[in-house]
Amino acid sequence: MAAPGGARRQPLLLLLLAGLVYGASAVFFEVKDGNGTACIMANFSADFLTSYNTQSGSKNSTFKLPPGAEALSSSSCGKENASNPSLIIAFGNGHTLTLNFTRNTTRYSVQMIRFVYNLSDTQIFPNASSQGPKTAESIPDIMADINKKYRCVSSNQIHMNNVTVTFIDATIQAYLSNGSFSKEETHCIQDEPSPTATPPHPSPSPVPESPSVHKYNVSGTNGTCLLANMGLQLNVTYKKKDDKTVTRVFNINPDNTKVGGSCTTQQVTLELQSEASTFLAFQFGKNASSSRFFLKEIQLNMTLPDAKVPTFQASNSSLRALQATMGNSYKCNAEEHIWVTEAFSVNIFKVWVQAFQVEGDKFGSVEECQLDENNMLIPIAVGGALAGLVLIVLIAYLIGRKRSHAGYQTI
Ligand SMILES: *[C@@H]1O[C@H](CO)[C@@H](O)[C@H](O)[C@H]1NC(C)=O
Ligand SMILES: *[C@@H]1O[C@H](CO)[C@@H](O)[C@H](O)[C@H]1NC(C)=O
Ligand SMILES: *[C@@H]1O[C@H](CO)[C@@H](O)[C@H](O)[C@H]1NC(C)=O
Ligand SMILES: *[C@@H]1O[C@H](CO)[C@@H](O)[C@H](O)[C@H]1NC(C)=O
Ligand SMILES: *[C@@H]1O[C@H](CO)[C@@H](O)[C@H](O)[C@H]1NC(C)=O
Ligand SMILES: *[C@@H]1O[C@H](CO)[C@@H](O)[C@H](O)[C@H]1NC(C)=O
Ligand SMILES: *[C@@H]1O[C@H](CO)[C@@H](O)[C@H](O)[C@H]1NC(C)=O
Ligand SMILES: *[C@@H]1O[C@H](CO)[C@@H](O)[C@H](O)[C@H]1NC(C)=O
Ligand SMILES: *[C@@H]1O[C@H](CO)[C@@H](O)[C@H](O)[C@H]1NC(C)=O
Ligand SMILES: *[C@@H]1O[C@H](CO)[C@@H](O)[C@H](O)[C@H]1NC(C)=O
Ligand SMILES: *[C@@H]1O[C@H](CO)[C@@H](O)[C@H](O)[C@H]1NC(C)=O
Ligand SMILES: *[C@@H]1O[C@H](CO)[C@@H](O)[C@H](O)[C@H]1NC(C)=O
Repeated sequence: MAAPGGARRQPLLLLLLAGLVYGASAVFFEVKDGNGTACIMANFSADFLTSYNTQSGSKNSTFKLPPGAEALSSSSCGKENASNPSLIIAFGNGHTLTLNFTRNTTRYSVQMIRFVYNLSDTQIFPNASSQGPKTAESIPDIMADINKKYRCVSSNQIHMNNVTVTFIDATIQAYLSNGSFSKEETHCIQDEPSPTATPPHPSPSPVPESPSVHKYNVSGTNGTCLLANMGLQLNVTYKKKDDKTVTRVFNINPDNTKVGGSCTTQQVTLELQSEASTFLAFQFGKNASSSRFFLKEIQLNMTLPDAKVPTFQASNSSLRALQATMGNSYKCNAEEHIWVTEAFSVNIFKVWVQAFQVEGDKFGSVEECQLDENNMLIPIAVGGALAGLVLIVLIAYLIGRKRSHAGYQTI
């Protein structure tokens, strides 16, 4: 169960370094069948973080899988079609960690992980207000190809209710075919070099590419009442099932979006239905004197499968965006952010719209957005600064040349 003989031959310094790097030494476990052939082998170190209640509020206890941890004889290789292989590890004063495996024709995985901890263990859980065993369970992302070992050098955090187990430097294989680890391995996703592991620009969520710009036009009995060219992106903040708050950005893909809407004298509506999961509506209104149109309402109904509350709804009917004089069009090359609620905003790309009065299905005179006008100032400012710089360099050069001339003359 302990470190193999090979490790003992290593110089002490190396062992110390390994201890520093891994923070814990790996513990090796195996489960054998009736014939003494290993069917499960595992070698990993694990850190536990458990929150529990005391009289003075909730406390966290952190501890490592101790070297004395061992596989219980109640572990099993499973019976075909009847039960799954399982590895049951016991340590300390009545704590057990169980891994149940399952497989299909190509892959095997840990179907369930369960940690039973003994709150009566005052060394690990001092002053716990309740006593006895507690159970935490979850489905971890530990899987590999059949006849390959699962290998994960990076840490893999598994959250189960009030417990987080972090596996480090793990090698695990179930359904062993010849009683030892296979040479071939399946690496965990945590080990794959990925942009999220070392982000070049740290960001809360990967921002997708800009959405494609599309014509979203609406017509009624009197012809076209909305011309709209734009790319649409939704920015949604919600709570996931594990109570973590995430911000996600979704592009509206015109290719799988149904466009609808309606025209009345007071209101122009654009309705977009993307697949079955997203319904987005825009409403344009006009002001009392009828001289200007503007976007006044956005409504979103969306299904988020990983959210705690999967139906996400947001609307705001007192917006004032994309405004222009009736008969003219509103245009913006810069990306515009329209805040609908605290949890939802719409990013609009390369927008060109005109609502209500549309002559001959063509955009009227353009009213450019403020952002674009400001952007025009930047090149001018940059140009000015560059010209200044060139002038300074030129002067410096001329002065320098005069000085060196003077120098030559004195020699
Ligand atoms: C033990 O080995 C024999 C012969 O290979 C096999 O028939 C039997 O099923 C094995 N028993 C177990 C419990 O695996
Ligand atoms: C277990 O893993 C450790 C760290 O990677 C390694 O040093 C050790 O040789 C492994 N033990 C076995 C039996 O595979
Ligand atoms: C999780 O811990 C909190 C306090 O630490 C406790 O109130 C709650 O009952 C625990 N939940 C479970 C499922 O153990
Ligand atoms: C316990 O740890 C969790 C996760 O790291 C943290 O969110 C929480 O604030 C900690 N609680 C205490 C009482 O330290
Ligand atoms: C297990 O189920 C499969 C398919 O249902 C069957 O082919 C196989 O014979 C079963 N094995 C046993 C030991 O019952
Ligand atoms: C839980 O811990 C207490 C105190 O160390 C011990 O007396 C008891 O036997 C443990 N329970 C189990 C199931 O091992
Ligand atoms: C895990 O395996 C053990 C032993 O085979 C079994 O008693 C338990 O029901 C299994 N749990 C699940 C969720 O499969
Ligand atoms: C086996 O399971 C993996 C992962 O769950 C899945 O991707 C794969 O399609 C499954 N293969 C078969 C043949 O069912
Ligand atoms: C446990 O509680 C006692 C008294 O309530 C306190 O003196 C002691 O510091 C607590 N121990 C820990 C580890 O919180
Ligand atoms: C999404 O909204 C959040 C605020 O809720 C903001 O911090 C973030 O920059 C926005 N992301 C994009 C791509 O618009
Ligand atoms: C269509 O045009 C007629 C005649 O100009 C007008 O009375 C009616 O209100 C218009 N309908 C809409 C939906 O704009
Ligand atoms: C969107 O949600 C609102 C509020 O529940 C509901 O009134 C409306 O009918 C929904 N629209 C669609 C298209 O599902």
